[in-house]
Amino acid sequence: MASYEQLFENNRNWVASKLATNKEFFEKIAREQHPDYLYIGCSDSRVTAEDLMGVEPGEVFVHRNVANLVNATDLNVMAVINYAVRHLNVKHIIVCGHYNCGGVKAAMQPVDMGILNPWLRNIRDVYRLHKTELNNIKDVEQRYRRLVELNVEEQCINVIKLASVQQTYVEKGFPVVHGWVFDLKTGYLKDLNLDFVKILKDIREIYNLTGTNWDEKK
Ligand code: CO
Repeated sequence: MASYEQLFENNRNWVASKLATNKEFFEKIAREQHPDYLYIGCSDSRVTAEDLMGVEPGEVFVHRNVANLVNATDLNVMAVINYAVRHLNVKHIIVCGHYNCGGVKAAMQPVDMGILNPWLRNIRDVYRLHKTELNNIKDVEQRYRRLVELNVEEQCINVIKLASVQQTYVEKGFPVVHGWVFDLKTGYLKDLNLDFVKILKDIREIYNLTGTNWDEKK
């Protein structure tokens, strides 16, 4: 584990390594950002965003919270998505969960978690929506893994419910929303291959905020 002092030493080494390959690295990133990706992931210290995707500063706009939740009353995540879609024009929005997620695990326990209760409630709601499927999985570990995946899927749907995402997609053909799960035990990312266009079409009966008939567009 790195000591507190070590962090600054690491930082100086990092600056040196960046400048060694590109003398203008920091001047370039200081000018502006044009990330193609918005990444919404878990705060878990083991699930880094840039590292696991192998991307550099400037390539991905990042939001992380406990259990990668997208809640319409969370001003933080709403502001991040709005800025990323309307101002940065990101082409892809990724919601990335991970197996062994403590937040998801906590939501499966009958325990009072204090201030975390209303936050974890979002995951309990995902469980309720998919209760039949989840309860049919007898192995607790497998059920836990499936809830991680379903939580990602539901948070993707929450992203797709937003006016900024719907309107920009109908107008420009992006952003596309993706659901991923990171496997801590192997280091690999798994694409859940969600059908973005199908989800978009399925939810429009109730959540259409575009003021247009999408059938005429697509
Ligand atoms: Co987590």
